[in-house]
Amino acid sequence: MQSIAENDLGTPARTSGRLLTLTIDDREVTVPEGTSVMRAAALVGTSIPKLCATDQLEAFGSCRMCLVKIEGMKGLPASCTTPVAQGMRVTTQNRQLAEIRRGVMELYISDHPLDCLTCPANGHCELQDMAGVVGLREVRYGYEGASHLQARKDTSNPYFTFDPSKCIVCSRCVRACDEQQGTLALTIQSRGFDSKVAASQDDPFMDSECVSCGACVQACPTATLSENTLIAKGQAEHSVTTTCAYCGVGCSFRAEMKGEEIVRMVPHKDGHANHGHSCIKGRFAIGYASHPDRIVKPMIRARISDPWREVSWEEAIAYAASELKRIQATYGRDAIGGITSSRCTNEETYLVQKLVRAGFGNNNVDTCARVCHSPTGYGLKNTLGESAGTQTFDSVMQADVIFVIGANPTDGHPVFASQMKRRLRQGARLIVADPRRTDLVRSPHIAADYHLNLRPGTNVALINALAHVIVTEGMVKEDYVRERCDLASFEKWRKFVADPRHAPEVLEEVTGVPAASLRGAARLYATAGNGAIYYGLGVTEHSQGSTMVMGIANLAMATGNVGREGVGVNPLRGQNNVQGSCDMGSFPHEFPGYRHVADDAVRSQFERAWGLPLRSEPGLRIPNMFEAALDGEFKALYIEGEDIAQSDPNTQHVTASLTAMECIIVQDLFLNESAKFAHVFLPGSSFLEKDGTFTNAERRISRVRRVMKPKSGYADWEITQLLANAMGLPMNYTHPSQIMAEIASLTPTFAGVSYELIDRQGSVQWPCNADHPQGTPTMHVGAFVRGRGQFLLTEYVPTRERVNAKYPLILTTGRILSQYNVGAQTRRTENSRWHEEDRLEIHPHDAEHRGVVEGDWVGIVSRAGETVLRARVTDRVQPGVVYTTFHFPESGANVITTENSDWATNCPEYKVTAVEVTRVSRPSQWQRRFQEFTSAQQALVGQADVFVK
Ligand code: SF4
Ligand code: SF4
Ligand code: SF4
Ligand code: FES
Repeated sequence: MQSIAENDLGTPARTSGRLLTLTIDDREVTVPEGTSVMRAAALVGTSIPKLCATDQLEAFGSCRMCLVKIEGMKGLPASCTTPVAQGMRVTTQNRQLAEIRRGVMELYISDHPLDCLTCPANGHCELQDMAGVVGLREVRYGYEGASHLQARKDTSNPYFTFDPSKCIVCSRCVRACDEQQGTLALTIQSRGFDSKVAASQDDPFMDSECVSCGACVQACPTATLSENTLIAKGQAEHSVTTTCAYCGVGCSFRAEMKGEEIVRMVPHKDGHANHGHSCIKGRFAIGYASHPDRIVKPMIRARISDPWREVSWEEAIAYAASELKRIQATYGRDAIGGITSSRCTNEETYLVQKLVRAGFGNNNVDTCARVCHSPTGYGLKNTLGESAGTQTFDSVMQADVIFVIGANPTDGHPVFASQMKRRLRQGARLIVADPRRTDLVRSPHIAADYHLNLRPGTNVALINALAHVIVTEGMVKEDYVRERCDLASFEKWRKFVADPRHAPEVLEEVTGVPAASLRGAARLYATAGNGAIYYGLGVTEHSQGSTMVMGIANLAMATGNVGREGVGVNPLRGQNNVQGSCDMGSFPHEFPGYRHVADDAVRSQFERAWGLPLRSEPGLRIPNMFEAALDGEFKALYIEGEDIAQSDPNTQHVTASLTAMECIIVQDLFLNESAKFAHVFLPGSSFLEKDGTFTNAERRISRVRRVMKPKSGYADWEITQLLANAMGLPMNYTHPSQIMAEIASLTPTFAGVSYELIDRQGSVQWPCNADHPQGTPTMHVGAFVRGRGQFLLTEYVPTRERVNAKYPLILTTGRILSQYNVGAQTRRTENSRWHEEDRLEIHPHDAEHRGVVEGDWVGIVSRAGETVLRARVTDRVQPGVVYTTFHFPESGANVITTENSDWATNCPEYKVTAVEVTRVSRPSQWQRRFQEFTSAQQALVGQADVFVK
């Protein structure tokens, strides 16, 4: 627990190695060159009055509150915009300065509502504070003249209110939107007295370009921009630092609390992944945790057609364990398994895999990372030697060229996108490879040098063509390769990609990317200095996902772009703890730390620690579990925090498999799609209700801290522990720190990780061990983890999913900023105001050809199934390609995706489905069945008193 105020030093820190010493009010201070006088003063405990300055933004110098006297300088310079100099002598307070500051305040206050006692900012208003600091006692101008006091409030945004009557036109909001967020939605319109803050063309916030990140709200020194929850609840009395549970950026937040109630989430300035910034989801979309749909009591039923029966925790756990034991006794030890979740903490994930391996006695454990980033693990392990990204997010600030492949960071990883855009505005070059024109391709002050607008499914052809140009035009970093890579594999690869069949001119036919653009992009990446690759699910969710990851690693090694700041191979992880769930041994063939279950030395280490023999054969992957269920061999599944019935491909196949099982145990917040097929429902806990850790896309382990008690009575790790004990596997942890201690004792890359270290440092990036006691920000420095970097051949094999006359279009999928994956959380917040349904994007040519206009209902038919969505006609997608998001279960996006998958990891080929699109007038047959089934399942919860109050 901590106090709520964060110290603001006025201007951002500087990192220069050159230190300068100056005197401020007779106190000496030494600071890096470039530091402002204001910040230097704050560092020796002198707060110079300020209004337009904050240490989150570059100084602007508009309010004139911070004037100081500097010996030898004319006039009274603004301390926020004046950099320190060696030997400078500064006076921060004298009679003249005091009078000027009072005069400035007097002017501000003469045009400000005097409603301090009822103002939402009362108690933390910087204007109010400054009035006190400068000793303002009267306003000589009176309040009768022209003013802005009647300016109308803008309440269009559901999360914050804009009350221009309180605005002091300090521009902090405008600068926050420009510098921090990079959306540039705000301006100061007009001049002098008429100047005012305007969103876009003076539109209501909801109709403007604003993406509701909240940076302007945080920057505002008055109550002009205030969170609606703060207006409604008043100020918090304590705060707890925790980590966002949405995406793989892993932003740090201070949950500002009143008792057990959250007042607001404030991004933490010291957060190493976000530096005080956030997106709409982390800052505002937390209402799901107390949404009336949330179930907080355990329930059981014998058949999925039976009504749910509310039971005690004891009965639910005993029933679940007895069913699992019965099934194993009847069908064999391998007839049951478990699925961990990338939404849960490392400690919870570790316990589920331990329960499966040691309690169920098999290795039938898998995770939702199977369907997103499993190819990353495989591809990077085999080339570089470690299944993880190579850099910190901050590393992007050293990149000279940024290559984004199959990722849409402004929607999927918004806070990192803001940082990336900052670097791009500083002049870094940009290449985007994506079948769709994402926002990054062109946004304010940013334009990609190359948009490689490839056909979905041709990634590997593209990477081979890029490699061909680099090899044949002599752009390989020969010294780097000689020193650090396996030369035999390199020579083989060089010969392979140099083959004329990989020339861009030849592959243009396949990828659709003009050879000249491709050659230009290859030259830019290889020669512009530090080249950093960022990629997402557009790389992994393909039948050649692992091949493409290896192709990316090959390219980075050949150009010397691994092993220092500013470069690297960086998978942007979708969910908050994808990295962690993989690290924790969620895959059926690997113990924590990516060590094979067949490795006798590793297995015996776990056997000694857990006190029983473990199996050496890998267990079933999720798709294998489905197949085995349909074959009658796999009968029970424990699913923690994952909704396979919505998120896995070919929904009808998944639901048939679930129906074929005898006991499905779902541990979740809501009666999700999978829970509709369940026999035991164990009410889970939100990230606000538990302790633990998440590991973000940078391998950064951060603390999740309990800010309120679990609404169901137990945190998820406690529920798994109850089930383990009921299954006969003793678990007696009293706090997740003990689980982390066990993880550290059994996992070499985590050997030095402890809650104490994380609390001390704020976070830690693995590997963290005796060699790297503070963790490892950049990997592969000096040498690759595997020794010498391994080049692997990446033969392009077209997907089986071909277009033909019957299915002439390719459907590809993605995410949107305001919604999150299956939408279970964000759909239960005001975020749906931005995106209330999934739509099908279709190019105007394809639409016209089919007589489809904007807003029409269209049927989308694939080899797997059919669904119906409304059309959005847009040239963001290329002709021949259609696109949709998948945030609403009734959209049935996965009814049409097929079971094709990555050859190495079974990661589904979500990004390529051949479809036909036609105008229709009613929902698909599947959608009608879905609605009926959903209504029936909701009725089976009936009158049970199981929902959150
Ligand atoms: S909420 Fe974010 S995007 Fe919207 S105006 Fe404020 S800073 Fe800009
Ligand atoms: S809205 Fe707030 S931050 Fe923006 S100019 Fe007005 S007072 Fe300053
Ligand atoms: S960028 Fe990701 S981690 Fe950060 S606030 Fe948004 S959803 Fe949360
Ligand atoms: S704080 Fe320096 S001019 Fe406003």
